[in-house]
Amino acid sequence: MHVPSKCRVCREPAIIDLPRHNANFCAEHFLELCRRQVTKAIEQWKLLDHDDRILVAVSGGKDSLAVWDLLIELGYRADGLYVGLGIGDYSDVSADHARAFARSRDLHLIEISLRGEYGYDIPTAAKATRRVPCSACGLSKRHLFDKAAIDGGYTALVTGHNLDDEAAVLLGNTLRWEIDYLARQLPLLPARDGFPKKVKPLVRLTERETAAWCVVRGIDYLVDECPMAVGNKHLHHKATLNAIEAESPGSKASFYLNFVERMAPLLAGRLADDREALGTCAECGAPTSGEVCAFCRLVTIASAHE
Ligand code: AMP
Ligand code: FES
Ligand code: ZN
Ligand code: ZN
Repeated sequence: MHVPSKCRVCREPAIIDLPRHNANFCAEHFLELCRRQVTKAIEQWKLLDHDDRILVAVSGGKDSLAVWDLLIELGYRADGLYVGLGIGDYSDVSADHARAFARSRDLHLIEISLRGEYGYDIPTAAKATRRVPCSACGLSKRHLFDKAAIDGGYTALVTGHNLDDEAAVLLGNTLRWEIDYLARQLPLLPARDGFPKKVKPLVRLTERETAAWCVVRGIDYLVDECPMAVGNKHLHHKATLNAIEAESPGSKASFYLNFVERMAPLLAGRLADDREALGTCAECGAPTSGEVCAFCRLVTIASAHE
């Protein structure tokens, strides 16, 4: 006979099982757990203050809508930023989800279009650079997030990176011992000349949990993954970690969270070294180690390629 599982807190019927916490939860107590994990992350790593002016980068997917929703619920002031990447229908639909959420909560959403403002899109940039789309995409997003935050006078830039994202990137960087990338893989990067403070408040939640947050809260998010990212290494690393997690629940969280607690402090010197070498881009003024920043070089190559 099937015995319905019960919420660990109130013993009412559960809606989700979380083997990592060795427990099941009803809707109300699941939301409570998510709020607690985000609050714990914010307090543990001093990610945000209530007087921060926050800009949340929103893609229309579950993670970024969940983090925006959570921060507003927890009493923070946060606007959204959507970057139109020009990836066909995928981008059109993702914009619709970001706008609909902002409208439903009466929140302010800033929109930037790569094609409209810089004369290229991600598929064109991928062809022009002859590299995987994710590299031009990541470079463009990072630059535009920083610029929008600085230009808008925001004190914190928030992204929706979750535990699965961070653990997968950590695995990739560890397999290659990318020490400089590892040193920067933190839930908080403080502001420095020309860069805003960067914060990842969802690193204590898995993607299954952020999806469930959206479902329970009635947030209509874009379920599809980016069509250009299909088959990338990041997705393989996620699958690998999920296989390990299934054998041994809690491994993913301890891999990432113990890295932050035990290993990252040993790499702190690398972050400081990195700091000294930056000048400003001759074209856009952004911080860079070269004369012209990588984004301006990409714009030149991609906008000339049709
Ligand atoms: P990704 O790089 O696609 O894994 O996304 C990581 C985070 O970047 C998301 O959680 C969002 O916070 C942000 N993001 C991704 N795509 C966009 C976009 N088109 N516009 C604004 N923010 C985005
Ligand atoms: Fe960047 Fe797909 S979202 S390549
Ligand atoms: Zn309950
Ligand atoms: Zn530049």
